[in-house]
Amino acid sequence: MSEHYTLKIYRGVKGHQYWEEFVLEKKPGDNIISALMEVQKNPINKDGERVTPVVWEQGCLEEVCGSCSMLINGRPRQACTALIDALIKQSGSNVITLAPFSKFPLIRDLITDRSKLLEDLKKIQAWIEQDGSFISGFGPKVSQTKQEQMYVLSTCMSCACCSESCPQVNEKSKFIGPAPISQARLFNTHPTGKMKAPERNRELMTEGGVSECGNAQNCVQVCPKKIPLTESLAVMGKQVSKQAFKDIFSSPDQEDDT
Ligand code: SF4
Ligand code: SF4
Ligand code: FES
Repeated sequence: MSEHYTLKIYRGVKGHQYWEEFVLEKKPGDNIISALMEVQKNPINKDGERVTPVVWEQGCLEEVCGSCSMLINGRPRQACTALIDALIKQSGSNVITLAPFSKFPLIRDLITDRSKLLEDLKKIQAWIEQDGSFISGFGPKVSQTKQEQMYVLSTCMSCACCSESCPQVNEKSKFIGPAPISQARLFNTHPTGKMKAPERNRELMTEGGVSECGNAQNCVQVCPKKIPLTESLAVMGKQVSKQAFKDIFSSPDQEDDT
């Protein structure tokens, strides 16, 4: 006999959100995205009513693009790698809840506008400057240790799971959140990127900067890429303090790199 499970989805738009349940047949290897696709093909709810199909975001389907973020059984994670079997086993219930992120403006159903994270990445200049498209020879050498350290930081996919879990990211605070701070560490570590380190550090000195981290460590527990976020927060805390100290004892146009 076929087994069934229920997807209980918090859907709707701002000011009109409600739970709606869909009963689905359990198939081997199903994940949350394939379950949502089933609902989309046949949007009949538990009460037998035909409803508007649920909307969500997806892209790579292999936990690389970060677009399918949502709250699955209350935890921020990627829908494409959330297997139905594992979720049922973990919770001991055949009801799986899905909800949109709560820290970002709701668009509809499971889609939120996470552009704040991209704006924050712009604020800390999360890139390496190039002064032209001409061939300027080999770049500076990067040691194996630094490459390994930078590689893990570079796997950040801007999924925003860390911000969603962080108690310091809320409507009342301007906290930039752990991902941009970790990206500042990445680009400050790069031999060319570090030319902009003083500017990144100064941005992280302002309101909403690194000092607003309350060290709750939720971020590091939910990051799907296992980025050492608390280590990045500590490293950037030190770099920012060092920068503040340097700025006190030097005029702004004599800035030094860190
Ligand atoms: S360690 Fe800092 S950034 Fe991470 S969840 Fe806690 S307060 Fe937020
Ligand atoms: S640090 Fe981790 S949780 Fe945060 S945006 Fe990057 S990949 Fe997602
Ligand atoms: S679809 Fe790209 S991370 Fe899930």
